Amino acid sequence: MRTLITNIKELHQTESDSSSINRLAGADMATVPKIENAWLLAENGLIHSFGYMDQLRESNADEIIDATGRLVLPAWCDSHTHIVFAAPREGEFVDRIKGISYEEIARRGGGILNSARRLNDMDEEQLYDQSLERLQKVMAQGTGAIEIKSGYGLCLEGELKMLRVIRRLKEKVSIPVKASFLAAHAYPAEYKQNKEGYIKLIIDTMLPAIAGEGLADYMDVFCEEGFFGIPETERLLEAGWKYGLKPKIHANQLHYSGGVQTGVKHQALSVDHLECVGEAEIAALLGSNTMPVLLPGAAFFLGIQYQPARKIIDAGLPVCLATDYNPGSCPSGNVPLLLSIACTQLKMTPDEAINAVTINGAAAMELENEMGTIKPGKRANLILTNKISSLAHIPYDYGNNPVYMLLA
Ligand code: NIG
Ligand code: FE
Repeated sequence: MRTLITNIKELHQTESDSSSINRLAGADMATVPKIENAWLLAENGLIHSFGYMDQLRESNADEIIDATGRLVLPAWCDSHTHIVFAAPREGEFVDRIKGISYEEIARRGGGILNSARRLNDMDEEQLYDQSLERLQKVMAQGTGAIEIKSGYGLCLEGELKMLRVIRRLKEKVSIPVKASFLAAHAYPAEYKQNKEGYIKLIIDTMLPAIAGEGLADYMDVFCEEGFFGIPETERLLEAGWKYGLKPKIHANQLHYSGGVQTGVKHQALSVDHLECVGEAEIAALLGSNTMPVLLPGAAFFLGIQYQPARKIIDAGLPVCLATDYNPGSCPSGNVPLLLSIACTQLKMTPDEAINAVTINGAAAMELENEMGTIKPGKRANLILTNKISSLAHIPYDYGNNPVYMLLA
């Protein structure tokens, strides 16, 4: 199958055959390379070639898409989501408006434990149907690769159910899906007085079962005061590594917890959230390959401080953006809206924000050789925009969907 896209107003994030960009950091994030008045040929789902319209020699295609007035860019790579969940939590949203904090709701047995009760009551089929619906919705908003976490099971059966749903989603949709094992998301109520028992359950029972079925790509821990501390996080990450699961962890959302340094020490692929980032966190990241992933949608929705994106980029580090789509802290997987928040609140430029959610998003899921730039041989998972004036129009036109079509 050959698909030729012609008359592209601007083709963004182009990369030549000879270069190999894995991720962009610091000042290199400032620009998204583009060519104007372009064509692109996709063959069997991969980018075959591209160039300027006035040099187009290809016309042999099964399908021709005229992209007059439209931009084409690599699809979003959303490297942090929890889209497999059973029920929304708008009651807690109202409680927070009235002044009860996210942490207090969690202490009272709401939050993640609320989601765990609902998930364990739901059968796999219904969970799959709902999750697929959410996934298709974010694909219509341009998401072309996604990571999805477990972590609302909090028992062997529940975690297996979630990860099996994620595996079925992987088989169903045409975009790459990565799975992270997040049993260390909260202590279940029955282990409140026996935290060691839950850590042992994860390490001795859940991990072997999940690895045995090949259900997870990564190991995640909610490393945070009141959730999993540094010693527990270290044990869990070491245990995950024994099964080949690289860490991708929740760190420094609510406190300067040392989570970033712990992630770096254990060679995490990414440390995610990062509302609380100071000099020590930046120093740790500078000597590492660990990707800082910012989730400003969660900060927006919880009304907490935003991540210091400028400080991180200006230190020469990469920044990745992801949605964190989940029923508690960010019930939205809308990447265009995320870009608007990143630009207006984190003061990232539109080009920086788009780099953060294309090539850097790909890197945060080890998909940098397949996704994230327009390069021959990479997947042709592409966004065709509505007829818009420029790339900056995407975050500018906030709340609206710029996507005309996702090719995947
Ligand atoms: O990334 N912080 C921990 N986990 C999720 C929220 C989970 C929930 O509230 O259901 C997050 O924000
Ligand atoms: Fe999260």
